[in-house]
Amino acid sequence: MPTNAMTAPAVRASKGSGTPLVMVTAYDAPGARIADEAGVDIILVGDSLAMVVLGYEDTLQVTVDDMAHHVAAVARAKPRPLIVGDMPWMSYHVSVEDTVRNAAALMRAGAQSVKLEGGRKRVDMIKAIVDAEIPVMGHIGLTPQSVHALGGFKVQGKQAAAAAALVDDAVALADAGCFAIVLEAVPDGVARAVTEAVGVPTIGIGAGPWCDGQVLVYHDVLGIEDRISPKFVRRYASVKADSVAALSEYASDVRTGRFPSEDESYHLSDDVAEALGLYGAVTKTA
Ligand code: KIV
Repeated sequence: MPTNAMTAPAVRASKGSGTPLVMVTAYDAPGARIADEAGVDIILVGDSLAMVVLGYEDTLQVTVDDMAHHVAAVARAKPRPLIVGDMPWMSYHVSVEDTVRNAAALMRAGAQSVKLEGGRKRVDMIKAIVDAEIPVMGHIGLTPQSVHALGGFKVQGKQAAAAAALVDDAVALADAGCFAIVLEAVPDGVARAVTEAVGVPTIGIGAGPWCDGQVLVYHDVLGIEDRISPKFVRRYASVKADSVAALSEYASDVRTGRFPSEDESYHLSDDVAEALGLYGAVTKTA
């Protein structure tokens, strides 16, 4: 861990600092280095891995082994931001023992904390993980692992009762020991009420400006994923379009003989070329 590394206690203590926390997902070492150099506070190795990297339709397909593989890749970059490993679906639903073992597997892979989805009903699991000295980040609102139970990827907490339930969930998570809570796809007023109700930072995605921090998915923020564009995503680059243009240029250069050039090739010395009978043939011009 770098000496100036972000920690879970530091994230928790930042509540009320006035400077919003910045979290972004990353799934490999280059992504972690980019996030680190950009100065973000927290890297989430999210189970969005399933959709943006592995090509699945939802997040339900990834396993603890998949997550550990990508957490380890991020950790090898030794980034300064805090590494949060997302616990995949069914890794914290069966038993307390199973849950703690799965959280430990992500920590041994290099995570410095874990995140799991759900409100009050996850309190026992969260307490057990915290008891094992593993910092836990909560996640309420639209919880993508519940996509079938929720009937789709829909904004949550729009009615008064549902909004109040989200505030109760957040308080329960904070009381159970979560050091921060992700709020996904909730009206800005609900995010404000939750943020005011808990003593730990809230980190929003599609939750408006009142949260203590913001998180976006790497592939969305950089424009690598351009097939869908949720309202809450702001794109800061067009990496997919730039990459297609760059690879098209490369393909064209190969096909027309413009790549590789003399400067991009290794050359034989004259005597070896002569011994091979190549004489003047060592230089190929397009
Ligand atoms: O997996 C993920 O990327 C997430 C964020 C959307 C918070 O959980």
